[in-house]
Amino acid sequence: MKNKNTIINPMSSLHNNLTLPCGVVLKNRLAKAAMSDSLGDGEGNPTQAQIRLYEKWAKGGVGISFVGEVQCDPRFPEKPGNLVLGEHSNLKLLRELTQRSVIDGAHLWAQIGHAGALTPSSISQPVGPSALNLEGLTCLEMSLDEIKQLPEKYAKSALLAKKVGFSGVHIHAGHGFLLSQFLSPLFNHRTDNYGGSIENRCRIILEIIEAVRNAVGDLFPIGIRINSSDQMEGGLSEADALKAIRLLDKTSLDLIDISGGTYFPGVKGSSEGVSKGPYFVHFAEQAKQITQIPLMVTGGFTHSAQAVEVINKGFADVIGLGRSMVIEPRLADRWLNEAEYNPTFPRFESLPPGGLTAWYTMRLTAIGEDWEESFELDLPSAIQQYEERDNQRVIQWRKRFKDL
Ligand SMILES: Cc1cc2nc3c(=O)[nH]c(=O)nc-3n(C[C@H](O)[C@H](O)[C@H](O)COP(=O)(O)O)c2cc1C
Repeated sequence: MKNKNTIINPMSSLHNNLTLPCGVVLKNRLAKAAMSDSLGDGEGNPTQAQIRLYEKWAKGGVGISFVGEVQCDPRFPEKPGNLVLGEHSNLKLLRELTQRSVIDGAHLWAQIGHAGALTPSSISQPVGPSALNLEGLTCLEMSLDEIKQLPEKYAKSALLAKKVGFSGVHIHAGHGFLLSQFLSPLFNHRTDNYGGSIENRCRIILEIIEAVRNAVGDLFPIGIRINSSDQMEGGLSEADALKAIRLLDKTSLDLIDISGGTYFPGVKGSSEGVSKGPYFVHFAEQAKQITQIPLMVTGGFTHSAQAVEVINKGFADVIGLGRSMVIEPRLADRWLNEAEYNPTFPRFESLPPGGLTAWYTMRLTAIGEDWEESFELDLPSAIQQYEERDNQRVIQWRKRFKDL
C-alpha cells in the first residue's frame, strides 16, 4: 500500500500528519483550496497583497495552501490577475511569495492551469480539444502538435515552481478548464488518440503527469484536481470520473483533489449553487475503493464536525476549504483548537452569474491588504470593482505578453 497513514486518535483526526507517496509530510488534514485570488500584478507576477494573503493562511495553521490558476502559458490565462510560471516570471517576487508562506510546516503548492476554451477572448483566441461555436463560447481546435507540446509546458512550469520554492504542484483538471475540457465529451469531440473513450480523453493528463514527474523528481509532491462530474448532461459523468481515477491510480501522483462543476456557459458552478454541502463526499467514498493515492475532497464544508466525520470515516485524507477560508483566514487553527467555531457566511438575496466569485475575490483583496475587518462591500459594488480591475489588467496583460 502506498498510503500507510493511520488515524491514531479519532477525536484529533484533523491534527494528524499525512505522509504522501513521495515521502513528504503534511502537518494536518486542512487545506486552503485553490482559489484564483486575482491579486497578480497584471503581468503574471505576485503583488505584496498576494504575498500577505498566503502568509496569513500559513500563519493561520493550514497544512497546505494552493495558489489557484498559476498559468503555464500566458496566452491562455483564466484571468488577467493570474500568476504565470514561465520565462517572463519575476523569480524574486515568486521566491518572496513562497518564503513567506512555506512557514510553520505549511505547504504552498502552485495549481498549474491553462484555461483552453475558457480563455477570455479579450486576451487571446481561446483554443480547446475541439472547435466550438456556441453562445458565449467560441474556440478553435488544438492541433495534434499543440497537444503534444502541453506536457513540456506543464513540466517547465512545475520545475520553475520547485526552483522558486513552492513545496508542490497541483495540476488543474477540473471546472471546465483545458484538461477538464479534454475529459468532457461536451468539449472534446476528437477522433484521434485524445478523444472518444475515457482512456483517450484522459491520455493528455497522464502524459502531463509523467512529464511533470520527470522534471521535478521522485521526492516532490504532485497533486491533481479533478471533477467528480461536470454536473451537466453530456459532460464528464461520475462513472467516467471513477474510470479516470483508476487510470490516475497507476501514476506517481501524491494527491487527488475531488471537486465538481464547470464554467461551461450558462451552468452554475458548484460553489454558486444553493445545495447543502459537503458536496462530493459520496463520490470520494467510491473513489477511495479504487485508489491508494491520498484523496482530498473540496466543496461545501461549513462545520468542523463535517470535516472530522469525513476523515474519521476514511472517505478522504484531506479536507479542502475555499469560501470558509476567505471568511476566516485563521480557520485551520480555529477548527484544530476550538470546539465551537464555525464561520458565518453572507447571504445574498439574488445572485447574478459570477457574483459570488466576485464578492469572495474582493474579500481576498481585503485580506491581502489588511482591511478585512472593515470589509463591507455589497454584491453590486464587489462585481463592479472586480470587473473594472480586470478590464484594466487585460490591457496590461496583452501589452506584457504581446510577442507570444
Ligand atoms: C473566489 C473563488 C475562486 C476560485 N478559484 C479557483 C481556482 O483558481 N481553481 C480551482 O480549482 N478552484 C477554484 N475555486 C473553487 C474552490 O477551490 C472550491 O472548489 C469551491 O469554492 C467549493 O469549495 P467551498 O465550498 O469550500 O468554497 C474558486 C472558488 C472561489 C470562491
